[in-house]
Amino acid sequence: MTDKLVEKLRRERDLSDSELKELIESGAHDEALRQAADEVRRERYGDAVFLRGLIEFTSYCKNNCLYCGLRAGNRNAERYRLSKDEILACCAEGYALGYRTFVLQGGEDPYYTDDMICDIVREIRARYPDCAITLSIGEKPRESYERYFEAGANRYLLRHETADLIHYGQLHPADMSGENRKRCLRDLKEIGYQVGSGFMVGSPYQTTDNLIADLRFLQKLQPDMIGIGPYITHRDTPFKNEKNGSVELTLRMLSILRLMFPYALLPSTTALGTIDPHGRELGLQSGGNVVMPNLSPTGVREKYAIYDNKICTGEESAQCRRCLEMRIESAGYRAVTDRGDVRRDETGVKDDT
Ligand code: SAM
Ligand code: SF4
Ligand code: FES
Repeated sequence: MTDKLVEKLRRERDLSDSELKELIESGAHDEALRQAADEVRRERYGDAVFLRGLIEFTSYCKNNCLYCGLRAGNRNAERYRLSKDEILACCAEGYALGYRTFVLQGGEDPYYTDDMICDIVREIRARYPDCAITLSIGEKPRESYERYFEAGANRYLLRHETADLIHYGQLHPADMSGENRKRCLRDLKEIGYQVGSGFMVGSPYQTTDNLIADLRFLQKLQPDMIGIGPYITHRDTPFKNEKNGSVELTLRMLSILRLMFPYALLPSTTALGTIDPHGRELGLQSGGNVVMPNLSPTGVREKYAIYDNKICTGEESAQCRRCLEMRIESAGYRAVTDRGDVRRDETGVKDDT
């Protein structure tokens, strides 16, 4: 039997707030949502799953987001920084494994000046002209974003975390603001980056109305990539007694995103794989089409502890590559190793191999 609400969302790529509320809260539409999301994803991207090599290059952070284990106030966190040479060695390994996108992610660490970031980006650009370079290093002045772009970065990941400013204030200390985060996203788009935004599902104090506000914000921003994952508690944060987000709600939100943003690159996140052993496979079957295997040196992986029990900390990069390939195939898809650019056109599936 067809589900009228799901069909309407698929057709119109939009619903009223009360209709969205029903989809988000009920659970009765889950199977129809998942099926429609998978069909839409296959129309646009076929069975391709894009791989992004993730290099977590610093666990230092000057910020104090209340949910994150890397927050400056966490005295128990073990800190590390990768040198330029170590980062380049990760890229070399990733390139040999077939990755054509490198994601440089880290806490907001003032040790890396704009000159240093530009120098690293320039060197990666010179060595791997066929690869996309993605930065995910937080909120910066517009001029810094411009400099990284000129140096050769093409993409930037910055989740808005929550679009509701009051909720944002409940998740962050007073010296951070949701307005500045949104300003960053607008700047990044204007400069010409392919932009990824997104939010945590089930973060403390989050309501259905907050999730609807997230969807409305994304409709305005029209990002190329939307990263969502369950909130997971870290034992050394002020939220240590809060509950984790759920797999069910994360998958439901992924499917809704696929129907609202058919073109989008939607990662099936490590956080999803952390709260459920098959979370990433389920994420792919619910509309996801990107995975971000870890390329960081094994010696530092455990130290990039943004939440408890993070997976893939003991494995070599090549092991994660093989493991993911198997998981992608078992879920019914195919790992591809091109740059995996966004497809905003409606011409349908192209061959990736
Ligand atoms: N510092 C940069 C930033 O905040 O954009 C990049 C690194 S930060 C660790 C990357 C993402 O991790 C954040 O955007 C946030 O959504 C996610 N994150 C942080 N703490 C988390 C937690 N406890 N559970 C799930 N996701 C979390
Ligand atoms: Fe720092 Fe990012 Fe963690 Fe916030 S989420 S404390 S900015 S690493
Ligand atoms: Fe890292 Fe499975 S993906 S071990």
